[in-house]
Amino acid sequence: MSKAIVIGASSGIGLEVARLLIQRGWTVGVAARRVDLLNTIGAADVEMIDVTSANADSSLMALVERMGGMDLFFYASGIGKQNRELAADIELATLQTNGVGFTRMVGAAYRYFAQQGRGHIACITSIAGTKGLGPSPAYSATKAMQNVYLQALEQQAHARGLDIRITDIRPGFVDTALLAGDFHYPMMLKPQTVTREIIYAIEHKKHIRVIDWKYRILTALWRRVPRSIWRRIKL
Ligand SMILES: NC(=O)c1ccc[n+]([C@@H]2O[C@H](COP(=O)([O-])OP(=O)(O)OC[C@H]3O[C@@H](n4cnc5c(N)ncnc54)[C@H](OP(=O)(O)O)[C@@H]3O)[C@@H](O)[C@H]2O)c1
Repeated sequence: MSKAIVIGASSGIGLEVARLLIQRGWTVGVAARRVDLLNTIGAADVEMIDVTSANADSSLMALVERMGGMDLFFYASGIGKQNRELAADIELATLQTNGVGFTRMVGAAYRYFAQQGRGHIACITSIAGTKGLGPSPAYSATKAMQNVYLQALEQQAHARGLDIRITDIRPGFVDTALLAGDFHYPMMLKPQTVTREIIYAIEHKKHIRVIDWKYRILTALWRRVPRSIWRRIKL
């Protein structure tokens, strides 16, 4: 394994993952909308990609071509906002980026790997997909969609005899621009800590990785909370 493409590498977790992969000797191509930030990483190649745009998959393939191939597709792009008033624009933009954009880009990588006969797709989803979270309905729902989509791809790859590894990375709260604002989040993780665990999950070809251990306990517990109680919990 040597060539990786990181989508959503301009800030936060994606940026840290791109940096660490480069440090570990990978040839890394990076993409996102803010090319000025991408240009500071020291990546082998850079592509401006807005995952909500209809030609984003072609831009990915152009980057793969210039890189001379792809072994690891790492997907970090995403948006998320608390939306307690359920503003329609926030909900719909979240579906476009985390739902449509995700499906477009992961699908393009999957088809490429299917043709190549092997490859590794690793995506940052979230623990938010493991339960419906009242403060951010579209974020929570799109993350659940991503969790299930990756599970489905894993089964499809196996059924088709394709050597495509899927890794679903589910961090808890991480101190990045995504959570910037007045709201105080508990149990906040540092992006660097999360990134080390992500690299471990990639190198050990994990199927699912909840980050970190505290969130592994938390999600195991909250999965057991019955719906009749869950709907009464104030988050
Ligand atoms: N922070 C957390 O607590 C947390 C927890 C669990 C999961 N996650 C997930 O981790 C991923 C990374 O988030 P982060 O926390 O690192 O936040 P971040 O610092 O805001 O990074 C988000 C990344 O997504 C990219 N992006 C957003 N919209 C895009 C679009 N339309 N096209 C292409 N790229 C786009 C951004 O690049 P441009 O703006 O330059 O396009 C940026 O590189 C997200 O999927 C998020 O849901 C975050």
